[in-house]
Amino acid sequence: MQITMEDHIAVVGAGAMGRGIAQVAACAGHPVTVIDLEPAALARAQAALDAALADLTQKGRIAEAEARAISGRIRWSDSLSAAAGSALVIEAIVERLEVKRAVFAELGAHVGRETVLASNTSSLSISQLAAAVPAPERFLGLHFFNPAPAMKLVEVIAGEATSPAVATAASTLMRAWGKHPVAVADLPGFIVNRVARPFYAEAFVALEEGLAPALIDAALKSAGGFRMGPLTLADFIGHDVNYAAASTVFEGLQPNVRFRPQPFQARLVEQGLLGRKTGAGVYDSRVEQAPAAVIEGLAGADIRLPEDLSDLGVLAEAPGRREPALPAGVIAVDGVLAAVGDGRPLSQRPGVDILIDHVRSLAAAPILVMTVRQPSDEPAAARLAGALGKQLLLVPDRPGQIVLRTLAQIANGAVDALRDGVADAAGIDEAMLFGANYPEGPLAWARRIGPRFLEQTLANIAEATGDALYAPSAGWASL
Ligand code: NAI
Repeated sequence: MQITMEDHIAVVGAGAMGRGIAQVAACAGHPVTVIDLEPAALARAQAALDAALADLTQKGRIAEAEARAISGRIRWSDSLSAAAGSALVIEAIVERLEVKRAVFAELGAHVGRETVLASNTSSLSISQLAAAVPAPERFLGLHFFNPAPAMKLVEVIAGEATSPAVATAASTLMRAWGKHPVAVADLPGFIVNRVARPFYAEAFVALEEGLAPALIDAALKSAGGFRMGPLTLADFIGHDVNYAAASTVFEGLQPNVRFRPQPFQARLVEQGLLGRKTGAGVYDSRVEQAPAAVIEGLAGADIRLPEDLSDLGVLAEAPGRREPALPAGVIAVDGVLAAVGDGRPLSQRPGVDILIDHVRSLAAAPILVMTVRQPSDEPAAARLAGALGKQLLLVPDRPGQIVLRTLAQIANGAVDALRDGVADAAGIDEAMLFGANYPEGPLAWARRIGPRFLEQTLANIAEATGDALYAPSAGWASL
């Protein structure tokens, strides 16, 4: 089977997602019908879509005539009967099983058995939804990301009854729409909503310990290479939405404790501090935020590197003379020993006075994150940063610091997902690149810096924290 550009596409639900999906389909050339129960929602969606097309025209991405043609390909309706004749119907209504089921049952009366029906659900089981669909072999999940016109990923979820030919045709169509489809099993959170959980959770754990939000965000953005800090991003998404996603994945994957929702975020939701949409969340957008306390790097350090550079990661690029007596993973800065973090806190690293957090790319990171044993070690840390042309961010002593701990736990969840058969390794990495804008796929990242190192890091964090949340996945053995 094949869906062509001449085929009609219907989108049910004219909210944020439905409108974005309609725009993508119409830009690709399809005649599109957008259906919503609420005439006001249709009017809002039409205005938003016109504004989006005007923006594209202004930026020179499309010609005015093309914008008019795209707009002219979209019809708006408040009746499901308008889906008749469509080759594909994508449902993007409220996230409630019984409401979605009722819509699919009614759609069955309007479209033929040859029509492919899809749901954009973020959290409901495709196989459970399929029970309401007249031809479950032609039903699947097409999970777009917000904003749909900008985000490349579409998770393509086959339910128990979905015909492989339908899943293949849907993936081919998504490619024709300029999207990056990834085949995903029908398991809670699919890929992105599951694998991304520790990115947020670890930030809330650090907040609970009293670390400043700006410090946490700056560390992950600068040394981690993430486009946005987790707390800024969670404020942007909305804590109600983000906490609900955490709870759904946690409940769906019981008794796995890896995805325990974080009490700090629960309290934000209880207090109505939902983020941007309420004006305040972790950050209060109405008052100017103090930036993270970055320390300028200092010049003039005498740096010695060990003979064996293998445990230094990207810090092996540091300029310095070789000192054969230094153990692997240790750098001497004016005689002060600095070591690369391995999950153990500095308090458990005898002989070491500076602990260096993970840096994804030395070239790309403007700031290095370190922990010092005592204030008198700070100048040595600043000189090490300065020798590498970087600024310095100091974090309190905690197992795994910030960047390594977050990365290790994201990779741990990705390894779990691989082991559970959520998707293949390439699919998991592509989903995080195209659906969450990660700087690197978590499995490729883990392979690059060493699966054994990360597995041991997790074991060290689990031991130091006494928290089973960090227990290494059984899947590490196969990475
Ligand atoms: P939304 O609340 O912005 O829009 C939902 C629309 O559906 C509303 O306009 C509402 O009037 C309409 N609607 C509700 N019941 C209906 C019915 N019975 N028949 C026709 N229209 C009906 O929701 P949003 O954010 O666009 O989400 C829609 C779906 O997409 C949900 O399943 C959600 O889980 C999923 N999703 C949301 C993402 C997001 O970031 N917002 C990302 C990916 C998926």
